[in-house]
Amino acid sequence: MSKVILITGSSTGIGLETAVQLAEQGHKVYATMRNLQKRSMLDNEVEKRNVKLNVRQLDVQDEKSIEACIAEIIASEQRIDVLINNAGAGFIKPMEQASMEEIQQVMDVNFYGPIRCSKAVMPQMRKQRSGHIINISSVGGIVGSPVNEIYCAAKFALEGLTESLATYLEPYFGINVSLIEPGGTITEFGNSLTDYFESSGGILEDDYQPLMETYMGYRATFTDEFKEKAFQKPSDISAVIIKCMNDPQPKVRYMTSEGVAAFTKVKTSLDPDGEILKTQVRKGVLDK
Ligand SMILES: NC(=O)c1ccc[n+]([C@@H]2O[C@H](COP(=O)([O-])OP(=O)(O)OC[C@H]3O[C@@H](n4cnc5c(N)ncnc54)[C@H](OP(=O)(O)O)[C@@H]3O)[C@@H](O)[C@H]2O)c1
Repeated sequence: MSKVILITGSSTGIGLETAVQLAEQGHKVYATMRNLQKRSMLDNEVEKRNVKLNVRQLDVQDEKSIEACIAEIIASEQRIDVLINNAGAGFIKPMEQASMEEIQQVMDVNFYGPIRCSKAVMPQMRKQRSGHIINISSVGGIVGSPVNEIYCAAKFALEGLTESLATYLEPYFGINVSLIEPGGTITEFGNSLTDYFESSGGILEDDYQPLMETYMGYRATFTDEFKEKAFQKPSDISAVIIKCMNDPQPKVRYMTSEGVAAFTKVKTSLDPDGEILKTQVRKGVLDK
């Protein structure tokens, strides 16, 4: 059955590939991006793969743009079946060196952004008594990693939010919520975060210098050849997103590779898809 789908952050990477794949499968896709001047990569892919989709402006940090976009979709489709909260950005800097403005920006894009978009679609999904909100988290939403603490904190927050919503949104309102947890994926993500790090001061000559030199040395091993072998491709992640969307009873979490599952096993082995805890919490709190 064709679904009406809104996806954020479709100018590149996982969002772009997911939007095109969903359109190839006959869904009504609203592929959104904050800056329509960056639409040419998506337009080229759409033309190459001979599909149709709708491109709209939506900045996850701007409530007005979210409301306008969602109002337009509901006016023309009378429904909205799936929201894919994909827009996000990495950030590397030790917490002590990051400004409060930078920390708030990372939280705003990766955590408040999905909240804003979800709050905006939920009235329609409740009215329909159906819907699926899919939040793109990360392996960094399960395991903390050095110098990535602010990004990990934002994705941990997204995980806590989603786990909590999953305990009641489906039984009370018919809305499913899920997390997708990619590891390293070949997109603009890594380049954007190192570009920002360099442009905002790079490695400073201070107590953190040895740590940062070691960490940046580790990042320098991510050559194109290495990524080709060890990273996933956007199409690998979109396949998991689509599997999640098509599951008759969607799970709380979907890891995208054996590598992510192995790396996080010490934390997730007893409940890899989050269903045991969800049921336990539902029973303990709601099923009275
Ligand atoms: N690539 C990885 O290794 C990896 C691993 C784990 C999780 N993830 C997650 O996967 C998701 C997609 O990332 P990606 O790998 O595809 O990276 P990407 O190629 O950098 O794409 C990120 C997308 O998010 C958009 N975006 C950023 N801020 C936005 C805002 N305020 N409003 C709307 N869109 C905004 C970007 O738009 P602009 O083009 O305008 O910047 C871009 O379209 C993110 O949530 C990321 O955290 C990625």
